[in-house]
Amino acid sequence: MGCLDQNWVTSLVILLLALCTPCSDAYTKTASKVKSAVFYSPKVELSPGISSNKFYYDVKFPEGHVALKSFNGEVVDEEGNSVPLYEVYLHHWLVARYHQPINSTNTEDIVIVKNAGVCQGNTLPQYFGIGSETRKTATYIPDPFGVEIGNPVEIPAGYEEKWMINLHAIDTRGVEDRWGCTECRCDLYNVTTDVDGQPLPPGYKGGLQCCTDNTQCRLKEGYKGYNRTIYLKYTVEWVNWDYSIIPVKIYIPDVTDIVKISNGPNRLNVTHNC
Ligand SMILES: *[C@@H]1O[C@H](CO)[C@@H](O)[C@H](O)[C@H]1NC(C)=O
Ligand SMILES: *[C@@H]1O[C@H](CO)[C@@H](O)[C@H](O)[C@H]1NC(C)=O
Ligand SMILES: *[C@@H]1O[C@H](CO)[C@@H](O)[C@H](O)[C@H]1NC(C)=O
Ligand SMILES: *[C@@H]1O[C@H](CO)[C@@H](O)[C@H](O)[C@H]1NC(C)=O
Repeated sequence: MGCLDQNWVTSLVILLLALCTPCSDAYTKTASKVKSAVFYSPKVELSPGISSNKFYYDVKFPEGHVALKSFNGEVVDEEGNSVPLYEVYLHHWLVARYHQPINSTNTEDIVIVKNAGVCQGNTLPQYFGIGSETRKTATYIPDPFGVEIGNPVEIPAGYEEKWMINLHAIDTRGVEDRWGCTECRCDLYNVTTDVDGQPLPPGYKGGLQCCTDNTQCRLKEGYKGYNRTIYLKYTVEWVNWDYSIIPVKIYIPDVTDIVKISNGPNRLNVTHNC
């Protein structure tokens, strides 16, 4: 119950704050000030059957101390047209926030700023994104709420705030088994070991370990297709930070999380397994 209680308390606090805030006033104030921008990830080159799972650091993002109001991601081609899911399956995409020493480009220096979720370590740390299935999901956060980012007080001295995108796309043009490729079935990718060359666990028939970056899913006999370029196009809406905005926290739960609860020395010991 420990974690449930915590979430419940947070919701209650948000509710109480909401009740004390002049909502209608805040609404008219921010509605006219919403800024919007469309950004593109670096380009991703795909060939038929390839699985591309890449991390792009220091991507374009609204700057300064702002409140995000919405975030919508979409895979597009070079003309900016949406790419059908039966050609490029978006296994997942994640947008994460991090702090890095000023002027450093070494990705080992980064400190991920997790969302408020309860998963252990850096599991499910992202702010936005999920997969193909979330296309066209409404993400607008109504007034007086917003996701606060870029607060200088939260950025450690000597560090700056940046954003990264992890994009995992599977090009299913010309493949023998489209479902199998999107499900990352090991036999179709001809994968029998993990990234460290160790044999996969017994019974592991498919999953992320079989469609790591640059693995190739089996094509139909004799299929030849050209390379294509895709981008993650993301549309962001935000307002400048202002005292009337109530910060919204992002929680990403995991249905497979088996929470272990035991009595700790002073309070409940809650261990998550996301
Ligand atoms: C096509 O894309 C793959 C990456 O999937 C790359 O390795 C290969 O060099 C590209 N081929 C051409 C002809 O550009
Ligand atoms: C970062 O780089 C800029 C431009 O090269 C330089 O002016 C600045 O002093 C650097 N800041 C730090 C903290 O290294
Ligand atoms: C599958 O992998 C094995 C061992 O790595 C290799 O010998 C074989 O040529 C591969 N088959 C295909 C179709 O790539
Ligand atoms: C909390 O529980 C986990 C496993 O359930 C255990 O490994 C850990 O030592 C416990 N911590 C405390 C402070 O009791």
